[in-house]
Amino acid sequence: MKQLRNDFPFLHQRVDTKEIIYFDNSATTQKPQQVIDAIAHYYSYDNAPIHRSVYAAAEKTTQLYEQARARVAQFINAKPHEIIFTKGTTESINAVATAWATHTLKPDDEIVITELEHHSNLVPWQQVCKATGAKLTYIPITDEGTLILDNLHEIITNKTKLVAVSHVSNALGTHVDIARIIEAAHAVNALCLIDAAQSAPHQTIDVARLKPDFLVFGGHKMLAPTGIGVLYIAEHLHEIMQPYQFGGGMVFEVDKYVSTWLKAPQKFEAGTPPIAQAVGFKAALDYLSTHVDFDELQRHEAQLCAHLIDGLQSIAQVRLLGPLTQLKKNGHLVSFTIDGLHAHDVATYLGQQGVYMRAGHYCAQPLAKRLGLEASVRASFYCYNLLEEIDQLIILIEKLCSVPLF
Ligand SMILES: Cc1ncc(COP(=O)(O)O)c(C=O)c1O
Repeated sequence: MKQLRNDFPFLHQRVDTKEIIYFDNSATTQKPQQVIDAIAHYYSYDNAPIHRSVYAAAEKTTQLYEQARARVAQFINAKPHEIIFTKGTTESINAVATAWATHTLKPDDEIVITELEHHSNLVPWQQVCKATGAKLTYIPITDEGTLILDNLHEIITNKTKLVAVSHVSNALGTHVDIARIIEAAHAVNALCLIDAAQSAPHQTIDVARLKPDFLVFGGHKMLAPTGIGVLYIAEHLHEIMQPYQFGGGMVFEVDKYVSTWLKAPQKFEAGTPPIAQAVGFKAALDYLSTHVDFDELQRHEAQLCAHLIDGLQSIAQVRLLGPLTQLKKNGHLVSFTIDGLHAHDVATYLGQQGVYMRAGHYCAQPLAKRLGLEASVRASFYCYNLLEEIDQLIILIEKLCSVPLF
């Protein structure tokens, strides 16, 4: 993984004399030069509208955009027309909330989520419940942050119309058994949405095998630019689901008072789409498939987690969060608190030393409240992080705990 670092200009910047240590990959990853070049090349030589104009450049750009869609489809083993480009995970979830749930749910129907969710997979469902009279129910977690699935059949019932769960928690790193959840949802004829924002960048996902109804993730957490995300909609829902935005690009025919829609994916992509971002996304996926083996990546990230957990466990003031045994096996992030120090002060101190980490509730306030926490600090890893960077972090935390600065 060390040689990859040459491709990432961001990582070679220095704070004082030391290279930056970037441990905020669950928020967004750095971009390799190949992705930056692909976007610059697109704007320099290929920039044109897609799907409408007939001149050569526009036809080429349409091809580039559709190649990106096909590449994403291949990445999760979907059909190209099941891939809708959005601006990110959040927009993808909101699309399902407006285009499917708000039109479909009735009072007394239930939406099931978990106590682990990111606000993006929680607030849209609160809004759906407000609009339709449906009820939001939760799969609870243990104090360690794993789902309690013993009485799943009492939570996912005939009233359930949608189950929406994160594949991997962005706050604790918990891996969720989505195959079991999808099966439980389908057993009562409910649909299932998987928030793969924290899993798609780190592990292989096969929608043809898992059969979720919706699966969502973003490009920017996996080396691609911001402003592009994926909404996978299983083919059987393409007719039932309404468009969620209206305008050019998604219509078949428009009369003065009524309009009809194109088929998916165009039906769900109104307006000029994120073309340069799609080109960058394809470059990121090409980069990952050339340089990163996902099994090796998972082993590497788990090794970084294990090293950090072992190092921090010997510091009395540190309280580690999450399912530590699982994180040592397949995690990509570690969250913790330090007695007597506010998480923001810890992250500020580390940032001054060139170690970039996130502090707060990571857009999962109900989870923080469930764990009795105001805030914690999170180190999250990707393919370019190194064991020696973990050593430096441990040394800084030891220093912080032995001579309290605050
Ligand atoms: C689990 C999870 N879901 C949803 C999101 C929202 O992603 P975005 O802000 O890119 O739309 C994130 C981002 O951190 C996440 O970690």
